[in-house]
Amino acid sequence: MTLAAAAALTATVASAQNLDAGKSPEKLFADGCATCHRSPRGLAKGRYSLTLSWFLQDHYSASSDSAKVLAAYLVSVDTPPPGAAGKPAKRPSRSKPHPPQPVQTQ
Ligand code: HEC
Repeated sequence: MTLAAAAALTATVASAQNLDAGKSPEKLFADGCATCHRSPRGLAKGRYSLTLSWFLQDHYSASSDSAKVLAAYLVSVDTPPPGAAGKPAKRPSRSKPHPPQPVQTQ
C-alpha cells in the first residue's frame, strides 16, 4: 500500500512538474487563460513578445518557457485595432494577394 501510494505520489509530482511541457500554446491558453480571456486575440495589444512574456511570468507565475511560448502565440494571433498602424508582417491579410498582371507584349 505504501509503495502504491508512493508510486502514485511520484507520478503526480512528475506530471505536475511537466504540466506545461510539450503543450501547444493553444492548449496552454485553453487550460490556463480561457476561463477569463475568451479569446487570445487582442491581448498582446501590439506589445513585443519579450515584454509580454515578462508580464505573463510576473502576473501568472508561468514558467519562463511557457511564458515565452504563450507570448509568441499571443503576438502571432494579435489583431491590431482597425485603423492602427500595425506591424505589416503581423497583420492578417484580409484582402486577397494580387497576382501580377500578365504583361502584354505587342
Ligand atoms: C483569473 C482570471 C484570469 C486568468 C486565468 C488569466 N487572466 Fe489575463 N487578465 C485578467 C485580468 C482581470 C486582466 C486585467 C484586465 C485587462 O487588462 O483586461 C488580465 C490581463 C491580461 C493581459 C494584459 C491585457 C492588457 O489589456 O494589457 C494579458 C496579456 C493576459 N491577461 C494574458 C493572460 C494569459 C496568457 C493567461 C493564461 C496564462 C491569462 N491571462 C489568464 C484575468 C485573467
